[in-house]
Amino acid sequence: MNFAILHYDTIASTNTEALEQARQGAAEGLCVVARQQTAGRGRHGRTWVSEKDAGLYFSIVLRPKLEMQFLPLITLMTGVAVHDTLAAFGVEPDIKWVNDILVSDKKICGILAETTETPKGLAVIVGIGINLRSSNFPPEIGYTATSIEESTGTLVDTNGLVEDLTKNISQFYEVLQTDSGPSAIISEWKKRSSYFSGKAVRVNLENETITGVTDGIEYNGALRVLKDDGELIVVQAGDVQRLRSQ
Ligand code: BTN
Repeated sequence: MNFAILHYDTIASTNTEALEQARQGAAEGLCVVARQQTAGRGRHGRTWVSEKDAGLYFSIVLRPKLEMQFLPLITLMTGVAVHDTLAAFGVEPDIKWVNDILVSDKKICGILAETTETPKGLAVIVGIGINLRSSNFPPEIGYTATSIEESTGTLVDTNGLVEDLTKNISQFYEVLQTDSGPSAIISEWKKRSSYFSGKAVRVNLENETITGVTDGIEYNGALRVLKDDGELIVVQAGDVQRLRSQ
């Protein structure tokens, strides 16, 4: 994949900008990077706190040649790529289904994948927010979030981080688009996530909350959860929390 990187000082949201660029025909590999976001977006309409230089705010335009049913695997593929990018700094990341990268159970990175129709076909925008430093966390996320600086004692260079990240995304994205790609990505995800199976979790679904134990990943990236009453639930979308002391 060829990358073209647009750098911004301040922007509303790198994902919103990349969506707009994709609709205007931007090629696969266009990346948007900002030092600060004024309207950073998280999953489920949440805000992504995006103080200046406190995080990497990055989005990339993908134009996958992939069956629709496998599109959710793009999020898992990105999780694997971010995992390896962070592991190279000496931290031990975990991946919490579906898209949170954790270090010592605290969130260090979030991933927001969005799709849009464009004149060149469907595009997927993958947004990645990596916490670089913790000092500016508002109190409500201070207990549940961490950063590269907090976990390693060093402040990383953003350009180097973008270089490593794009290299890893490119590698796993190529894998995903091969015939055996979907199952290969699931097995890479399994190697890197303690949430793959045997994890006691609470899952907030749209209309209910369930508790149970994780029991693997479906062919399309959905999470299987074996409920306490023995029923197997396939979670396509939902928020997963680890249950402690079980
Ligand atoms: C989440 O965990 O809720 C996903 C957070 C994704 C945040 C990133 S920061 C770069 C990109 N631009 C956005 O507005 N959001 C994503």
